[in-house]
Amino acid sequence: MQTPAPGTLRILHLSDTHLTGDGALHQGTVDTTAALEALLDHLGAVDGVGLVVVSGDVSEDGSPESYATVRRLVGGWAARRGAAFVAVPGNHDQRAGFRRVLFDGHVLGEGGQELLHTMEHHDPSVPVRGRSLVAGRRVVTVDTSVPGAGYGEVGAAALEHLRTALAEPAPHGSVVVLHHPPLPAPTSLHDALKLRNPGELAAVLRDSDVRVVLAGHYHHHFAGSLAGVPVLVAPGVANDADVTGPYDEETALVGTGALVVDVAEDGLLWSTPVRVPRPDADQRALHLDAETSARIAADSGPA
Ligand SMILES: [Fe+2]
Repeated sequence: MQTPAPGTLRILHLSDTHLTGDGALHQGTVDTTAALEALLDHLGAVDGVGLVVVSGDVSEDGSPESYATVRRLVGGWAARRGAAFVAVPGNHDQRAGFRRVLFDGHVLGEGGQELLHTMEHHDPSVPVRGRSLVAGRRVVTVDTSVPGAGYGEVGAAALEHLRTALAEPAPHGSVVVLHHPPLPAPTSLHDALKLRNPGELAAVLRDSDVRVVLAGHYHHHFAGSLAGVPVLVAPGVANDADVTGPYDEETALVGTGALVVDVAEDGLLWSTPVRVPRPDADQRALHLDAETSARIAADSGPA
């Protein structure tokens, strides 16, 4: 891959690592720790990464052990390259375990330096809020998870956090990282689990200095825009949704990928999807028939 031009912030965008604390296979089929290791290994030759983000569903079980794994693997990869490391919770994450290991999600700052955090107690009802400055870009993480549910929402506290963070323009613009994308969902299950209030997010993004919104959740690469701001959805590390199947069924294939996103000083944005070749790729990792999809949608969607 080309080396980023001077002044460009290169972001390695990972999502949906679904790590388990006890090594249990994701959906009974995928060793997600091995998938993450294979991906990071494959990306080892990519030059000039200044920031690594994991845009939610970091953990499958919310255990501190699973967050320690992401801290070790992704944080270690970032630190060795002098890159910052930022994560945000998704619907599978649990805020208590997340905070215990990853604090406010801004773990490593510019140059891969450990950021200092004071251990504060937060009730799990309080969204994880963080921001940092990397190469002149403000990186704002917005927690769209709703405790106990699968769908997403930018609640009042998270919206206020974003509004406050964006109140003053950053030298080279801002980057927003969140889990539930403000884009249409590819299947009926994901439609039930989508972001409920993209309009409220759009109102804050409109006329802001945000250059890109980085999201996950759909386990497949999508690109779109909201209020004129590009929205990039990273492929899943855990598996790859098969979006060509029936709308009311959910199928995912064995497959691991990421985005390499270049954000230039002049506003140019360039995203390169990366997929890791694996011997068992494209076998089914998950299949939910229409009835099972509908039941999960009813259990995890809005009341
Ligand atoms: Fe998710």
